[in-house]
Amino acid sequence: MGSVGAKEVPQLLNEAGRRIDGRGLEDLRALKIEAGILNRADGSAYVEWGDNKVMAAVYGPREVHPRHLQQNTKAIVQCRYNMAAFSVDERKRPGLDRRSQEISKVISEAFESVLFVEEYPRTSIDVYIEVLQANAGTRCAGIVAASVALADAGIPMVDLIPAVAVGKIAGKIALDLKKEEDNYGEADLPMALVPRSGRLVLLQMEGHMSRPELEQALDLGVKGCLKIYEVQKEALRARYAVRSTEAPEVAA
Ligand code: CDP
Repeated sequence: MGSVGAKEVPQLLNEAGRRIDGRGLEDLRALKIEAGILNRADGSAYVEWGDNKVMAAVYGPREVHPRHLQQNTKAIVQCRYNMAAFSVDERKRPGLDRRSQEISKVISEAFESVLFVEEYPRTSIDVYIEVLQANAGTRCAGIVAASVALADAGIPMVDLIPAVAVGKIAGKIALDLKKEEDNYGEADLPMALVPRSGRLVLLQMEGHMSRPELEQALDLGVKGCLKIYEVQKEALRARYAVRSTEAPEVAA
């Protein structure tokens, strides 16, 4: 244990190789996804991932607002990532700060690369991500939720996008950092994967890793994404199963 100023730095990894919440280095936090939770949106999803609680709502393809952003050859993808004022320990000032703008931009670009935007010229596909409770990895949780919401809206896409952050804590590469690990760890590497092609559509890094560590982190992140992908598909299957049991009653 060390200390930074007056603050005590937590021990991120114990002698048995366990993390502060008891996980091993390659374990994800518990992940629960529910599709189709909002009546007003075209598609929606709710994600609980560790202590993160994130909602995504999708509209479109629909008319572009503001109009001057309209493109003649393709749909535009407008994502708005927002952290609720009550989502973090110290009340966050409401509204779009620089961080939220950056996250909104990189998420919009990630989705633009998997949606068939050329099929819907002069329209907008709008993705709203609301972080209700934050505990690191919220941009990834937002992407996971928004993918399911886009599928729930029936918007054609190449694939769902699972996402996860890999980091370095106490000198070791670890999957899916929680808040203390993000704050006191050495590196944080959020990524989003298109499982069908193996392509990464989001990759950011804060902190330092050596090249072999980066390679290890990418491998671990891809493995994590593939597990998350299964939970995303299951959420959509569960949504569809409800509809199919309802269908005979409607027909009768
Ligand atoms: O959430 P994510 O890891 O994608 O982004 P980050 O910028 O690395 O933030 C890590 C975590 O710091 C967030 O998930 C929040 O728990 C916390 N945070 C905060 O408490 N107040 C903010 N204004 C921004 C982030």
